[in-house]
Amino acid sequence: MSIINTGDIQKKAEQAIGACSGLARLEEIRIEYLGRQGLIAGLFAKIKELPGDERASFGSALNNLKKSLELLIEEKRGLLKKVEFDRRALDPSMPGVAVESGGIHILSKTIKEVCAIFTSMGFTVLEGPEIETEYNNFTGLNIPLEHPSRDAFDTFYLKPAIPFRAQARNQPPETSREKLLLRSHTSPVQIRAMKSLKPPLAVVVPGKVYRPDATDASHSFMFHQVEGFLVDENVRFSDLKGVLDAFVKRLFSSAGGEVRTRFRPHFFPFTEPSAEVDVSCIICKEHKKHCSVCGGKGWLEILGSGMIHPNVFRHVGYNHKKYSGFAFGMGIERIAMLKYRINDIRIFFENDLRFLKQF
Ligand code: PHE
Repeated sequence: MSIINTGDIQKKAEQAIGACSGLARLEEIRIEYLGRQGLIAGLFAKIKELPGDERASFGSALNNLKKSLELLIEEKRGLLKKVEFDRRALDPSMPGVAVESGGIHILSKTIKEVCAIFTSMGFTVLEGPEIETEYNNFTGLNIPLEHPSRDAFDTFYLKPAIPFRAQARNQPPETSREKLLLRSHTSPVQIRAMKSLKPPLAVVVPGKVYRPDATDASHSFMFHQVEGFLVDENVRFSDLKGVLDAFVKRLFSSAGGEVRTRFRPHFFPFTEPSAEVDVSCIICKEHKKHCSVCGGKGWLEILGSGMIHPNVFRHVGYNHKKYSGFAFGMGIERIAMLKYRINDIRIFFENDLRFLKQF
């Protein structure tokens, strides 16, 4: 019996395991050597046929062989599993996992487009805070306290901040502090910019504004405006007209045909004279018949504008005898609605991907 050399078996098994390149083949090898009816089990059964003094050493040699093969097979199994996983992970023929790409919101695109037209004319983009002082939103803009024109810019006021310690002591808040509000237009950035910069300046200001309007198809308590203003010596109303006419023509160039502008006298406390700017109806092209967008008028109102009021220059410390300037403001939702024929402002803010993906 001692002819059976466990070393030879070990070598043969090692060769087979080494050459094996698949998990199925490895399982065959395991069964061949370590299975219940395998080679090693068969040798264990033969121990009793050995002379008594050889049994113990042969038994322990077999045990060592068994353990060693179990270990080798386990190791090889781990290796093959990893290879198989890597192969699958790298399989270029596997169907890919589609990644949904996001997009830029149609309002952001419109703001970008509007600002790009003005920057190409030499304007700089500035921004201001959405929480403003009553002074910047009204007083500095020549909208006096208690003046009825404030109603046109109906406003969300913030509750006065109660200093933490006063709050803890249950004391009333300071009353001397300036009232804060959510800006009702982007015009307060005129005050901020002119207070910190010297003329000449040409600025556009995109941003969110807030008014406590009941929500419907054309009103939202938050919307976007782009403000613009230019201050220099000898700025005239004809400069305002030229800049806004060029802007409107470029903005609606995709509407096809000639787009015309019309300046209508209007009133704003911070500009004098003031004008509202209309664009010829880009939907019916002034044919007017049954046009629901312009209501058959042939014109669409899109901008407020005017020459900056001398009182505004006084508030920011500009010499109103030396400098003049113009300002304008427009609602971005309205422009996007006209340009892309959207008939309900609420749809901009509902985050419905079926709508957003169209742009
Ligand atoms: N701030 C005005 C509004 O919100 C628009 C405007 C801006 C008008 C600048 C004139 C000049 O209606």
